[in-house]
Amino acid sequence: MVERADLIISAGKIVTSTGASQSPLTGRDFGRVTVINDGAVAIASGKILAMGKRDEVEKLYPLEQARRVIDAPGKTVTPGFIDPHTHTVFGGSREDEFALRISGVPYLEILQKGGGILDTVRATRAMPYQDLLEKSRRHLDRMLLGGTTTAEIKSGYGLDLETEIKMLQVIKQLDKEHVMDLEPTFLGAHAIPREYRDRPDDFLDFMAEEVLPRVAQAELAKNCDIFCEEGIFNIEQSRRLLQKAQELGFDIRFHADEMVSLGGAQLAAELGARSADHLLKISREGMQAMAEKGVVATLLPATPFTLMKDEYAPAREMIEAGVAVALASDFNPGSCPTHSLPLVMTLACLQMKLTPEEALNGVTINAAHSLGKAGEMGSIEAGKRGDLVIWDAPNHRFLPYHYGTNLVDTVVKNGRVVVQKGKLKEG
Ligand code: NIG
Ligand code: FE
Repeated sequence: MVERADLIISAGKIVTSTGASQSPLTGRDFGRVTVINDGAVAIASGKILAMGKRDEVEKLYPLEQARRVIDAPGKTVTPGFIDPHTHTVFGGSREDEFALRISGVPYLEILQKGGGILDTVRATRAMPYQDLLEKSRRHLDRMLLGGTTTAEIKSGYGLDLETEIKMLQVIKQLDKEHVMDLEPTFLGAHAIPREYRDRPDDFLDFMAEEVLPRVAQAELAKNCDIFCEEGIFNIEQSRRLLQKAQELGFDIRFHADEMVSLGGAQLAAELGARSADHLLKISREGMQAMAEKGVVATLLPATPFTLMKDEYAPAREMIEAGVAVALASDFNPGSCPTHSLPLVMTLACLQMKLTPEEALNGVTINAAHSLGKAGEMGSIEAGKRGDLVIWDAPNHRFLPYHYGTNLVDTVVKNGRVVVQKGKLKEG
């Protein structure tokens, strides 16, 4: 019996990786995508049934039996984008710091003087739960409008038990209520709060021995992160917290080798982290260690762009060394106030010399691997979630090329149309 499709989408082009659900794309394979001209995707019960040439898919799943048909000639379909590194839940905003940085004050100096992340900590502590929930929901809506269907979100603007829990509860509630899939990460060690200014080890003990077990017990986060950076948390402190997190069952992903080459990449390999992120200052040994252990490098080029750096992560060298590269926004109120993964693709191409194909794989299949979710999302293949974007673009190269404008036409999440003609569908 022929199964009936809930939704059939046909389009000028369907572009996706194929056959990379087991392990991330590396080396030359990272630049390979499958392009189907005059293609179609059939979806039922939220999952992809088939993808291929339009006439073949329509033979298997006749159009007249489908509940809904979308025809998008001249447009391009990709998998829903996945953002594996964001700080989406926070109070306040930091446009004054933006102006200060333009005038020449460095990011870490602002933090050391009690501003930056600590400004957001004050605003997040002060914001009532419901307000934080609504503010974060609006950010998710904007991400979805830009083609992001899944995002990782970190805590880390509480730096105390109550606010860290409040942030993680917001993420949990939004995961239930919002159409996007969310991956919660505990980032209690994001900065050293004022009250612990001269006692960083005591703060770390507090996070590791008191807060982390509470988060584990309440099942509020799947991953654990730390800002491993000179002047924030060193390698020893990071190892201590992350090992404790592993004992409690967390997956590890962390901010590593961003401003100073501390050996965060090697630590990520030593611990078997799922991902090490930023990596502007990664060493050759760090690259080799990550490649050997299969740790994904999640690169965030919109952050050095915002911080007006001349230097970006050495993505080409990493790819040559066999490291799996994913891309993310790092969306946060300070070092990266953009939700836009298409903009991240543009910066990855122009500043890190990724090809448009690598950039697409970076925000889809390899981003799924960065989160350990490639079995269920990240490509348009039978059995995966029906998460797709129809772009008002003639091909996938158009996405990073024609930047600064939102090219999203339609977003389908779990088989449901959630954005139509560039607008959110209510309810
Ligand atoms: O990834 N590096 C630490 N955390 C964020 C910045 C957060 C902020 O500035 O509020 C980052 O860049
Ligand atoms: Fe970050």
